[in-house]
Amino acid sequence: MGAWTVLLVSLLTCAVLLRPTSSDPSDEACLTHLSQSIQDTRSLQNWTKSTFANPCNGFTAYLQGATCNNGRIYKLSLTNLALRGSISPFLANCTNLQALDLSSNFLTGPIPSDLQYLVNLAVLNLSSNRLDGTIPPQLSFCAYLNVIDLHDNLLTGPIPQEFGLLVRLSAFDVSKNRLSGPIPVSLSNRSRNSPKFNASSFDGNKDLYGYPLPPLKSKGLSVLAIVGIGLGSGFASLVLSFTGVCIWLKITERKMALDEGKISQLMPDY
Ligand SMILES: *[C@@H]1O[C@H](CO)[C@@H](O)[C@H](O)[C@H]1NC(C)=O
Ligand SMILES: *[C@@H]1O[C@H](CO)[C@@H](O)[C@H](O)[C@H]1NC(C)=O
Ligand SMILES: *[C@@H]1O[C@H](CO)[C@@H](O)[C@H](O)[C@H]1NC(C)=O
Ligand SMILES: *[C@@H]1O[C@H](CO)[C@@H](O)[C@H](O)[C@H]1NC(C)=O
Ligand SMILES: *[C@@H]1O[C@H](CO)[C@@H](O)[C@H](O)[C@H]1NC(C)=O
Repeated sequence: MGAWTVLLVSLLTCAVLLRPTSSDPSDEACLTHLSQSIQDTRSLQNWTKSTFANPCNGFTAYLQGATCNNGRIYKLSLTNLALRGSISPFLANCTNLQALDLSSNFLTGPIPSDLQYLVNLAVLNLSSNRLDGTIPPQLSFCAYLNVIDLHDNLLTGPIPQEFGLLVRLSAFDVSKNRLSGPIPVSLSNRSRNSPKFNASSFDGNKDLYGYPLPPLKSKGLSVLAIVGIGLGSGFASLVLSFTGVCIWLKITERKMALDEGKISQLMPDY
């Protein structure tokens, strides 16, 4: 019995180890589209068509920035490489992806809502790019997300309420964007066991408000005050110049009357 088990296990191990270089059609579609959307991948080692067909051999990756697990791409880390272009929605075809880090590049365009199909995704770091558009609420379907770092982009709109569903979230940073609206209470006041995110996660978004950001208080008042002073001084100068004109008119009128008097004095009476 024991010998059979050992034999079976070693046969299985052999089969796994000797498995030829796997070519996964979804990983190939993912990489092909990503390399197209990033536009210029000449600086990236082995980012060529032939490698996309065979990016992995078991746990060995042949593609710069990729990590493989059992013949599938499971990490993509292309940071600080001056990449331009956008993030292809076809990235969702890398269905085994657990970590996606494209931080510190010059990527533009939206965060594709199709990333929701990356059901194993635990780390999403797209920080320090030029991404715009809104944050897709569908990312909340990636239930294993631990890290969402989107800081330093040009993202607009609200922080999705649905992110409160991401119970595993331990790092969250959307600072330095153009987000607006209230911070979802589901994110700022988490249940006892989950970590809280402090103001540094939300700073640098002009129209974002609510706990844990400091209340607006005097800021709103001072804006009003400045407007008030501006309007007030405008009105005051209007009144002043109007009075000035009135006084000037009065003086000239009097002068004219006086001159008229002089003239009438000089004129001989008929
Ligand atoms: C890639 O994803 C798209 C959309 O999700 C799907 O239609 C297509 O069949 C996928 N391609 C492969 C090769 O998996
Ligand atoms: C590029 O591919 C070659 C062979 O296919 C491999 O030896 C090399 O390690 C790869 N480079 C990287 C950065 O993975
Ligand atoms: C995301 O990437 C940036 C730059 O590469 C790094 O500084 C930051 O720590 C990463 N975020 C997280 C939460 O690991
Ligand atoms: C969140 O919790 C803090 C203290 O833990 C509390 O002061 C604050 O009022 C709460 N905010 C909301 C919106 O519940
Ligand atoms: C906010 O949280 C971050 C980690 O998430 C920590 O590094 C930082 O010191 C905290 N800041 C304050 C003011 O508590």
